[in-house]
Amino acid sequence: MRVVCPGSFDPVTMGHLDIFRRAADQFGEVTVLVTVNPKKQGLFTMDERVHLIEEAVSGIPGIAVDTWSGLLVDYTTQNGVTALVKGLRSGIDYEYELPMAQINRRLSGVDTFFLLTDPKYGYISSTLCKEVARHGGDVSGILPPNVATAIRAKFSAAPTGH
Ligand code: PNS
Repeated sequence: MRVVCPGSFDPVTMGHLDIFRRAADQFGEVTVLVTVNPKKQGLFTMDERVHLIEEAVSGIPGIAVDTWSGLLVDYTTQNGVTALVKGLRSGIDYEYELPMAQINRRLSGVDTFFLLTDPKYGYISSTLCKEVARHGGDVSGILPPNVATAIRAKFSAAPTGH
């Protein structure tokens, strides 16, 4: 069974890492697939996101990283992927994820499995982490250490736009 955890991961958070680890525990191996979401403006480049994920998962067995810029179902079909795994933090996530899971299944037959986010990561999002880091707030513990370092560097190199 080939399994993918898809997302923008701009950047990867501790919540994402927990989902990758639990997905790998359940399915043996997972590929984290960094996809382009045209509705979201990126902070990190695709290469930077991949590099940050590779560093963050280096101690966790069974996790590979790949990228894709087209329809997710084209990747799954071309690579023999039969399942997607995503985290669900709340009913808001459910409303967002439900139509995506259904259209993906209609288009290709791929199924989506949802893991309930560990409560200690329930409020974490990449967007929130960027907002905190942009204004110099403390992101340690909510971002992997390498990502926290990278985001601090990103914002110390750029104007904050007061
Ligand atoms: O982390 P995100 O941005 O919420 O991830 C959303 C993602 C990657 C699952 C979604 O943007 C996606 O599948 N993008 C690929 C394009 C696609 O297949 N769109 C139609 C199906 S929803």
